[in-house]
Amino acid sequence: MRKLIDPYGRQITYLRIAVTKRCNLRCVYCFPTGAEISDKADLLSGEEIINIATKAVACGITKIRFTGGEPLLRKDIISLITRTAAIKGIQEVALTTNGIFLADYAKELKKAGLKRVNVSLDSLRPEIYEHITKKHCLNDVLHGIKTASQEGLEVKLNFVVLEGVNDMEQRDFIDFCKRNGYKMQFIKKMDFSRGKESSGNGDGSLFHRPPDCRLCNKIRLTSDGLLLPCLFSKETVNIRDYKDEDRAIARVVSLKPKNGCTAVRKRSMIHIGG
Ligand code: 5AD
Ligand code: SF4
Repeated sequence: MRKLIDPYGRQITYLRIAVTKRCNLRCVYCFPTGAEISDKADLLSGEEIINIATKAVACGITKIRFTGGEPLLRKDIISLITRTAAIKGIQEVALTTNGIFLADYAKELKKAGLKRVNVSLDSLRPEIYEHITKKHCLNDVLHGIKTASQEGLEVKLNFVVLEGVNDMEQRDFIDFCKRNGYKMQFIKKMDFSRGKESSGNGDGSLFHRPPDCRLCNKIRLTSDGLLLPCLFSKETVNIRDYKDEDRAIARVVSLKPKNGCTAVRKRSMIHIGG
């Protein structure tokens, strides 16, 4: 079994693939203001995604997560998960979704080989949910989460802590998850205009993300084919510039910084995939 080791001795085993930039929410901390986001001609095809996933697993990746934008907006998402779960050597396929279409897809996702799903949910109160996401669909998301859990998918909630907006709900979320058997993940809001995490919001002792850079095991692929060594990195590797994807993967691993770069980069989460 081959291994991917970065220049600081960390083993890279985790690839996050953004499959679209499109989203049916407009979360304040994610969506570029005033922007109309659509997938252009450079969107990775299903074949390209499966090809790079297969090469990545052969190189030493054991876990692949599909993100977006909203990955359930992509028509071939079930086929992508089914085919990825069938790659020889893969140990885990995961998905991060905003949950709006989760009730419709839960059964198929489970059948496709998905074990667990992360759902972005930043409030249990309809007015606050709408304030953050600009859409009135909290009930669809709650229904989606419940259905996923009933279908046997392990559910983890992603909660981005926004000072003065939802930070008073952290305890409610812990209780909600305990009652329903979900896992909970509190995320520090990233400020991409400054290329770093924001400081001082919410109960600091409760944060799960960002994790410690010393333990970083991941690389990312954007929906238009750019491999990123780090969330904040301005260095990218375009897989389409390489005939041999193994070399693109080795190159991006060689570019991993010791700590999250502080370089300012004009790319929002909708492009990178959380
Ligand atoms: N800071 C922190 N997390 C973010 N996400 C999106 N934008 C940001 C940001 N600016 C999270 C979402 C979702 C995941 C895909 O990334 O909440 O859970
Ligand atoms: Fe969509 Fe997720 Fe961004 Fe919200 S955080 S706008 S759900 S991609």
